[in-house]
Amino acid sequence: MKGILLAGGYGTRLRPLTYITNKHLLPVYDKPMIEYGLEALYLAGIKDICVVLGGAKPEDVIKYLGNGYKYGVDLSYKWQGEPKGIAHAILCTKDFVKENAFVVHLADNIFPDGISDLVRNFDESNCDARILLVKVKNPEGYGVAEIKNNKLVGLEEKPKKPKSNLIIAGVYCLKPSVFRIIEELKPSWRGELEITDTLHKMVTSPKYKVEHHIYEGQWFDCGSFENILEAGLFIKERMRGR
Ligand code: G1P
Repeated sequence: MKGILLAGGYGTRLRPLTYITNKHLLPVYDKPMIEYGLEALYLAGIKDICVVLGGAKPEDVIKYLGNGYKYGVDLSYKWQGEPKGIAHAILCTKDFVKENAFVVHLADNIFPDGISDLVRNFDESNCDARILLVKVKNPEGYGVAEIKNNKLVGLEEKPKKPKSNLIIAGVYCLKPSVFRIIEELKPSWRGELEITDTLHKMVTSPKYKVEHHIYEGQWFDCGSFENILEAGLFIKERMRGR
């Protein structure tokens, strides 16, 4: 399986620090945010990884990660340009993915317990997508799942009235069949090609199979100072425990 690390965007909520460097290089405890995603992919056995860049200071990421040699992975880069959404960023990797199953990891998400369980055997499964759902207190800020009789029946990006408190975390196992949907997708109200709309179309079409795992481990979306602090403190405590 191949891996994709999404590191585009301007990181406006993290200004002024994102005037200094790329959002994904900001520290979470003792290392840059993006290294957690890289490590999670590596530990899940994924060594052929494409980093998608755009927005502010992308050259800093290339300078820091290089060709991936020091991490034991093979890194390549794609240029997304202006941030036009997660699904758009995924579409930029079509010629890297080719016919392979792949895992997309948002570079501002941290899964301290890893993603290996999610990734395991996905390439041999008959699913087009496998996603992680996490229970949160403020679902309206995320892609929200609608569940009926334990079945995932729909997904909605940042709804005013969330249909559950289960949201899609920033890691997705996908097959190249996803490109057909993204190519026909219309931008959302925020002008982006949304991964949530892509997955919703898959969930509601008989032609596609989407599996979901409910994630009980820790998860952090490091898009705000509060969350970066919370993630850093958690990681510090965990390291002390070891
Ligand atoms: C993005 C996705 C959203 C997902 C979240 C996880 O949100 O659009 O569906 O729940 O990542 O971090 P954004 O960071 O664009 O607000």
